[in-house]
Amino acid sequence: MAEIAKTSVEDIELSLFLEGIFRRYGYDFRDYAPASLQRRIRKCMRDEQLHTVSALQDRVLHDPAAMQRFLHTVSIDVTAMFRDPTFYCAFRQRVVPLLRSQPSLRIWHAGCAAGEEVYSMAILLQEEGLSERSRLYATDMNTLGLDKGKAGIFRLKAMQGYTENYQKAGGKRSFSEYYSARYDHAIFQDSLKQNIVWAEHNLVTDRSFNEFQVILCRNVLIYFNQSLQKRVHKLLYESLALQGILALGSKETLQFTPYADCFESLDDREKIFRKVK
Ligand SMILES: C[S@@+](CC[C@H](N)C(=O)[O-])C[C@H]1O[C@@H](n2cnc3c(N)ncnc32)[C@H](O)[C@@H]1O
Repeated sequence: MAEIAKTSVEDIELSLFLEGIFRRYGYDFRDYAPASLQRRIRKCMRDEQLHTVSALQDRVLHDPAAMQRFLHTVSIDVTAMFRDPTFYCAFRQRVVPLLRSQPSLRIWHAGCAAGEEVYSMAILLQEEGLSERSRLYATDMNTLGLDKGKAGIFRLKAMQGYTENYQKAGGKRSFSEYYSARYDHAIFQDSLKQNIVWAEHNLVTDRSFNEFQVILCRNVLIYFNQSLQKRVHKLLYESLALQGILALGSKETLQFTPYADCFESLDDREKIFRKVK
């Protein structure tokens, strides 16, 4: 009995907390999938050494720096260069031939974290001779990640894993040609950065801002509940040109969305779709 009462108090606190954040800062987490959101909120409570969600609410609402820390914890920024290498192989084989006939390419990376996948795409486009006509839009709600991406400086330690991914992804050169090492960091070439536009964009509360030939929104929708996924699918659909390409994460799907019939699958396993109506 005591257990049930405790759980329900925390549920009330959680919903007040999320409502408060939305009203105070405009970030809307109310329709995120509850299990992983709760785990992140508990992590934030531990980091802040607070024992209740109400205490966290008090701190976050009164202290914008605490809100930034909360945002950083709640935005799960796990990523890697050439993450899921087979995805990039499929992109080279099935999508690149379709892009060759396009005079200009706008590619949107929605929820790009610190831009590791954006640099992967910039490298792929350079190797396929498509970078001259491409512009990459790298967006996320978390500006800390975007600043990191803009600088193009990543931990040198990560390069070994990234090199293996790059090779498995069908990379055509030596991966180390794309960066110079300084102390314990890898600084990526300016030529990769010149076509990238970095911008804050929240998939829950912001609108479409252009029409794209390719949209990658990988490993973001898994954090949303069904109704929010539906809303974001609408945004992605409306932002994509006819015959445009949509790439989702390996655990994400178009099935059961109102847009399932509007796409044909180019690669079922790698979740690459083409908008046909
Ligand atoms: C797990 S990372 C995925 C990064 C990259 N797309 C990949 O597949 O490697 C999820 C990203 O989604 C972002 N995100 C979560 N909710 C968002 C929202 N409402 N609007 C924009 N980005 C969001 C997080 O900040 C985080 O950077």
